[in-house]
Amino acid sequence: MLFMPTIAIVSQKGGSGKTTMALHLATSAVYAGRETRVIDIDPQATSATWGDWRGDFKPEVMTCPPVRLFSTIEKARRGGAELIVIDTPPHGDTASREAVRVADLVLIPTRARAFDLHALEATAGLMSYARKPAFVVFNAVPARATRMIEEATKAAEAMGLQVCPIQFGERAAFHRSSGTGEVAAEIEPDGKAAGEVDALWKWASGHITLKQLPARGA
Ligand SMILES: Nc1ncnc2c1ncn2[C@@H]1O[C@H](COP(=O)(O)OP(=O)(O)O)[C@@H](O)[C@H]1O
Ligand SMILES: [Mg+2]
Repeated sequence: MLFMPTIAIVSQKGGSGKTTMALHLATSAVYAGRETRVIDIDPQATSATWGDWRGDFKPEVMTCPPVRLFSTIEKARRGGAELIVIDTPPHGDTASREAVRVADLVLIPTRARAFDLHALEATAGLMSYARKPAFVVFNAVPARATRMIEEATKAAEAMGLQVCPIQFGERAAFHRSSGTGEVAAEIEPDGKAAGEVDALWKWASGHITLKQLPARGA
């Protein structure tokens, strides 16, 4: 397959924020001038439904069964895509493995509570064979949760996972915007959620190789 920067959002736990993170990150990439496709390999197709609500606005959301991931990325490339973000199902060992296989960067959203951290072990197990850059991203972090995050970071590191320096807080703008086919920055441009997404995109884009954008005015 030809070169295609790909970010996979993976976690074995439902409700950890995979779809929210995939859609927000991909939309930030679009605003940064990157032709981006979301590929939704979750049979529940939540990202694809968001794409329907969004209509003609980018990013386009494609769907495919996990075994069609390579060919769907190739189709996206022929359609002009320069970045892929993959949204995956929970409990989807095969799907998660396929997504990790094609990814240059794996993000693992998780809430920082005990049950979620317990579920993180399954994802850590998957990553231990993969030899891909993978980072836990704490999501829906409550206000004043410094101690909780310190402990969750230790737990993730003990599983052999790295922790992303950016976190998403527990913020209404994430779910309010998703329900209308939008992202947080579109309903609250100066809100905290928008700032966190922007920070995650800046950080993530430093961990993948994107082709050079043409110079301004060129
Ligand atoms: N940072 C957040 N703050 C508030 N609500 C969130 C946040 N992240 C996700 N949610 C909400 O939590 C629910 C599950 O998120 P979702 O992205 O669908 O998880 P997954 O795809 O892992 O199942 C959704 O209702 C979503 O809007
Ligand atoms: Mg989902």
